[in-house]
This record gives sequence, C-alpha cells and structure tokens, in this order.
Amino acid sequence: MTHILLEKKGQIAIAAINRPKALNALNSEVLEDLNTLIDTVEADPEIRALILTGSGEKAFVAGADIGEMSTLTKAEGEAFGKKGNDVFRRLETMPIPVIAAVNGYALGGGCELSMACDIRICSDSAVFGQPETGLGITPGFGGTQRLARLVGPGMAKQMIFSARNIKADEALRVGLVNAVYPAEELMPAAEKLAETIAKNAPIAVRACKRAINEGLELSMDEAIVLEEKLFGGCFESEDQKEGMCAFLEKRKHEPYQNR
Ligand code: CAA
Repeated sequence: MTHILLEKKGQIAIAAINRPKALNALNSEVLEDLNTLIDTVEADPEIRALILTGSGEKAFVAGADIGEMSTLTKAEGEAFGKKGNDVFRRLETMPIPVIAAVNGYALGGGCELSMACDIRICSDSAVFGQPETGLGITPGFGGTQRLARLVGPGMAKQMIFSARNIKADEALRVGLVNAVYPAEELMPAAEKLAETIAKNAPIAVRACKRAINEGLELSMDEAIVLEEKLFGGCFESEDQKEGMCAFLEKRKHEPYQNR
C-alpha cells in the first residue's frame, strides 16, 4: 500500500490515510489501497477492531481528489463514484467494527469515508462537510444516503445544499460523531474504545454489527427475525458457554477465543 500506513497493536489494527501534502485526498490509488487494507485486515483472524485516521495534523481526508476528478467525462465520473462506493460499502460491511478517528478536515469523500465506519469520534479541530455543490457536483461516495440516515434528512439537506462545513461541537450536537476529544487525546481514546470492543466476544460483536446494519434496511418484523437468528447462532459458540458459565460461577470469563 503506497498511501495507507498500517500498524497492528495486539488485536487492533490502526490505519492512516497517508497523503498529507494533499490533505489525504482520495485519488484512485488511495481507493485501491483501501481495498488492499480491507483484504489485509480480513485475512488476519487476530484483528477484532480497525481504527481509521488521517496522517498529519490537519486532515482526516479533505475529499475525493479534485485534480483527478476535474477532467472526468460523465461515464468516467460514474465509474469513479462506483469505485469509491464499492470500497466504502466493503468497509461498512466488514465483519469487525471500524472506528473513524477524525483528526481534522473530513470533507466530501472524507466525511463520506467516516460515515462508512461504524463509529465516529473526532478531535476538537475536526471539520465536517459536503462541499460538493460548491464544486458543481453531488456527493459521490454515499454522502446523500449516509448523511441523511445519520443526522436526518433535514440537517443532511441543509449541509449538502448549502455546502457549509460544521465544526466538531456541531457535529456532536447533530449526532454525526459520538464524542469530541482534545487533539492529543483522540488516538488514545480510539484505542481504548477498540480495546474495550476487542475484549468482548467477537462472534457476538460481529452478529450485533450485522443485526444493526442489515436490520435498518428491513421492516421491523423482518429485522426482529434477523435478530432472533443471530441471537440463536451465538448459542453455538464456545464464547457464549464460557461467558455464561463464568457469570453463573461468579468468576471473570477467560479471554474470548473467537470460537
Ligand atoms: N483534492 C485534491 N487536493 C486537495 C484536496 C482535494 N480534495 N484538498 C486539499 N488538497 C490539496 C490542495 O490542493 C493543496 O495542494 P498544493 O499545496 O499542491 O496546492 C494541499 O492539499 C493543501 O491544501 P490547501 O492549501 O487548500 O490548505 P488550506 O489549509 O488552505 O485549506 C481545505 C484546507 C479547507 C481543506 C481546502 O484544502 C479545501 O477546501 N479542500 C477541498 C475540500 C473539498 O472540496 N472536498 C470535497 C471534494 S469533492 C468530493 O469529495 C466528491 C465526492 O463526494 C466523491
């Protein structure tokens, strides 16, 4: 991977988009690297959570690469949108939880990348926005869909139609992020959250991710059936047996083994 730095810390992977001179803008190469990142993380059964952040102090990701997009034809524009959407959808449906640690500008494709993650936390210097209409385009990597689902259609329309950026405190207020930290505390907080998740039974955590993501696309009746199936599936796992035995025997459970 040319533009992504990957570090493994125990059961956690930390990936940083690394094009700081272009504020980590997403060109085709970065999108390909994101695919490689997902392949690499999925191939490692030890990894139980992924943290995604940006290199440098200024940006998470300042958007899709405007230089690369500037000369696209209609067909090429559609293909570029599909390339981003395909990899963001892969990220969103990865079995393990993905945390976006947003350390600065998260604009356009950067805001969209954060929204394809399961959980967003940010530094107090973070700035979110969908500036595309100011550039003569729509959001192209899922922004119209995920922003409306996360903050509601009214706020999403206001942000997208006006192309106005919002700061960390407003992102927290509208529910785009779960928490805001001083810059130096962001990565420790992300790692602590990832470690907390990694200590829980991985099969159950993955089942919860599926239940929430897939359930939101279904009617309540269908979603409840999905939850029942995923709940039932946990009873085939050794982690369920250990977790419940430990509770009944009033002892701490053994580290979960992903079985
Ligand atoms: N694409 C390509 N290059 C970018 C970029 C982007 N999205 N964002 C920043 N850069 C580059 C700049 O061109 C500049 O490069 P040079 O030094 O070679 O000139 C470098 O990063 C530093 O940027 P600035 O000098 O502009 O830094 P700043 O601190 O003055 O401003 C900023 C920071 C407000 C984020 C500003 O860079 C900016 O507005 N960037 C564009 C943000 C944007 O419009 N993003 C949406 C893109 S469209 C999209 O993402 C579509 C989609 O949904 C798929």
